[in-house]
Amino acid sequence: MTSADPRVRRPAFTKLAIAGGHPVRTRPWPTYEKGDVFISPEDEAAASSAIRARRYSRYDDRPFEQTWARRLERSLCETFGVRHALACASGTTALALGLLALDLPPGSPVACPAFTFPATPSAIMLAGHRPVLVECDADLHLDVGHLSEVLDRGAKAAVVVHMRGYASDMPTVMHLARTHDVRVVEDAVPALGARLGGRYLGTFADFGAFSTQSDKSLNTGEGGFLLTDDAEAYARALVYSGAYEGRMHRHFPGDVPAVDDLAYPIYGFRMDEIRAALAGAMLGRLPQRLAAHRRNHDYVVTELASQEGIALRRPVADGAYLGEALMFRLPDATPTECARFARALTAEGIDARALGDPADANVRAFWQWRFLFGPDQEQARALLPRAARYVGEAIDIPLSANLTVADCDDLVTAVAKVSAAFRRR
Ligand SMILES: Cc1ncc(COP(=O)(O)O)c(C=O)c1O
Repeated sequence: MTSADPRVRRPAFTKLAIAGGHPVRTRPWPTYEKGDVFISPEDEAAASSAIRARRYSRYDDRPFEQTWARRLERSLCETFGVRHALACASGTTALALGLLALDLPPGSPVACPAFTFPATPSAIMLAGHRPVLVECDADLHLDVGHLSEVLDRGAKAAVVVHMRGYASDMPTVMHLARTHDVRVVEDAVPALGARLGGRYLGTFADFGAFSTQSDKSLNTGEGGFLLTDDAEAYARALVYSGAYEGRMHRHFPGDVPAVDDLAYPIYGFRMDEIRAALAGAMLGRLPQRLAAHRRNHDYVVTELASQEGIALRRPVADGAYLGEALMFRLPDATPTECARFARALTAEGIDARALGDPADANVRAFWQWRFLFGPDQEQARALLPRAARYVGEAIDIPLSANLTVADCDDLVTAVAKVSAAFRRR
């Protein structure tokens, strides 16, 4: 990817749009357009065909292997190189099913990162357990040293998140988990298709949970899936998802694990045929979409590599990210300063958010999670001071797969312009 016109770059000393100057761009930033990304006639044809078949649930009298949901699961197994896949209602339900299938005692402490979307601790609660938050490092990755302490203190399982598409250090996490004899669920919701060392995220742990909600790499509006190599745990997840009265058996053409399908509650977390058809059609185009994310992200990051005043988020390994977000910190800036920076970028025509903006109830700021911590945000921040600091310094910019070179140039120019203005203060 080459710049549209390098000479138009870095109008560093022009007046900021927020102060009445000309914005870098006036066209809206293509955030994720709530789904209108990489949609094609093939998707419409697949969904219409599922509708025309007049069979909207997979568990009926058709041969099971012909159902859209089963075909999707087969394709997911092939794509990700795993034994079992379960198409389900959402990323949250996929996570909860993975946790339920671990068969932990009710109310178990389960580790999860402080820097995540609230669906992660919510899924732990949905599975009947207690989230124990783990610090992050300066690159907003899970702090494995702190995870080790949380496991030493008795956490019975861990959920690891690849937040905003950046991989967590899975080899280290899995080593730690095995030495503590705990099982791990990967929340790969934000990283569908990203890899670490050539291996897909979501295939390192005992379970990988994904979403197909409209902002994700596969867009069925809502939806999700769960991956695992563990046949017995898969059978339990199936039962919990609503595969009752022997339906669970249809997922095992060979030996069926000895799992009693009335020994567990049934939650009805299934995916319907229409969404499964849509996801299956999109899966074929996933490589193109991933390439677009990667191209946009790498272009912007290369251009901003020597930008003063910002600390770009560094991946745990080369290429270990999806590329659907640009994240950087403003080291030592207060949340209010970061909020001003993000608003200045937004005024330049780039959708940016300061994760710790005190005036923005951003759900990714853990201290806002009253469902876990109650109303005292300072007390919550004091429990996880490093995560509070680093999340508070973070600026987050969505990188749609539809971005053009000109959009990426605008982003680079706007960040350079706003950074220069903030440095002059
Ligand atoms: C990290 C993470 N986990 C889980 C979820 C939940 O996915 P869903 O909305 O499909 O339930 C999200 C949603 O964006 C997320 O960002």
